[in-house]
Amino acid sequence: MIGSITKTRNGRQFQINKRHTRKRLDVSELTLGMHIVELDRPWIESPFLFQGFLLESPDDIRMVQDVCSWVYVDVLEEEWQEHHGATAGKPQTRQRFVEKQEMAQQLTQANRTYQATKQQVKTLLNSAYLGQAMNMEGAKVAVKECVDRVIHNPNAILWLTRLKHQDEYTAEHSVNVCLLSIALGREMDLAPYELENIGICGLMHDIGKMKVPPEILNKPGPLDPQEFEEMARHTTYAKQLLMGRSDIYPGAVDVAYTHHERLDGKGYPRGLDASKISLFTRIVTVADAYDAMTSDRCYQKGMSSIDALKILNRHAGSQFDTDIARQFIAMIGLYPPGYLIEMTNGEVGIILSSDPGFSLKPKAIMVLGPDKEPQPERIINLANAPQDDRGEFYKAAGVFRSGTFGVHVNDYISKGLRIKGFEFCMQD
Ligand SMILES: [Fe+2]
Repeated sequence: MIGSITKTRNGRQFQINKRHTRKRLDVSELTLGMHIVELDRPWIESPFLFQGFLLESPDDIRMVQDVCSWVYVDVLEEEWQEHHGATAGKPQTRQRFVEKQEMAQQLTQANRTYQATKQQVKTLLNSAYLGQAMNMEGAKVAVKECVDRVIHNPNAILWLTRLKHQDEYTAEHSVNVCLLSIALGREMDLAPYELENIGICGLMHDIGKMKVPPEILNKPGPLDPQEFEEMARHTTYAKQLLMGRSDIYPGAVDVAYTHHERLDGKGYPRGLDASKISLFTRIVTVADAYDAMTSDRCYQKGMSSIDALKILNRHAGSQFDTDIARQFIAMIGLYPPGYLIEMTNGEVGIILSSDPGFSLKPKAIMVLGPDKEPQPERIINLANAPQDDRGEFYKAAGVFRSGTFGVHVNDYISKGLRIKGFEFCMQD
């Protein structure tokens, strides 16, 4: 053990024991800021001058990758034990390097799953458009993987639902509704096989849009009553496309047919009353509305997450199931991963996640300084009450969509978050 300190956080007192341990990593997992302590060969047989060094630049990483297959790196392990008077709580162990590593890795893996699912849905949409047979097998495998990802780390995969490309709206919307429905189902403690079923419902809910004429589907303006009538038929078209198939969860037909129904009976196509609207339809309806409201379309800009959540709340009970809408609002929270956060000092970051129990104090990668100019990226965790250069505590001033302040979250995924966002140590 290298030391022990006592910290007070949110009125609770913790004793923190710190110790260094070593972790074996494949060289493909290396990121800046890691400290190499051992190679897969004797140091004398390597070109490195020092026995143990810090990865300070991408060149350092490349050099290690050229020489080695695996290495050992230093990990700072912290054991947090809360004081409860005479009885101490069970200690929680945190690995500071591992935390950084895991989020980066999970984003990369989540991105792979997201792209694979998008590819599957594009193929299905295309088959429906051309009137060809739809092969569901690939989509089912992709949805199963989505469920695994959501169960493992919902933050990482939900991050990707914020990265929207207007020209791929229908495919991305289908994947997003699939993921949001799975995540909401997870919050509601649905079993994994139910999560797979609801994922398929989300993925297929708008398949009928492929039978709507493209000039109506992609019209860059409001629809006239006749066009709206045709657009509304996508629910019936979906039923025709999916009904009677033995290779798809039967509930998906019901969801695709009824996802525009409302609890107050004012929905379409049948104006069903609440008793006829299934649990899965209620879940998909909320996920569908949220993703549609927060997406840019050719005729309107998407709204902020918070404004969309306010609308869900306002229409809970009439359009949406009250309990489900409230659970969804709590799940998304005020600081959704993948959105931008502006601090009161003017600095801007990308929201990463929140620690359990600290949903109002997210972690973020800070990317712009107070003058809105790029600054070296570093991660701060508002749960740790970090201070800025002037000694002021960081405080959130607002949450914005990607693209605000010239910060495009997509760039951070495509440039490789592993280096771009995780190069500096966590700041306490
Ligand atoms: Fe729809």
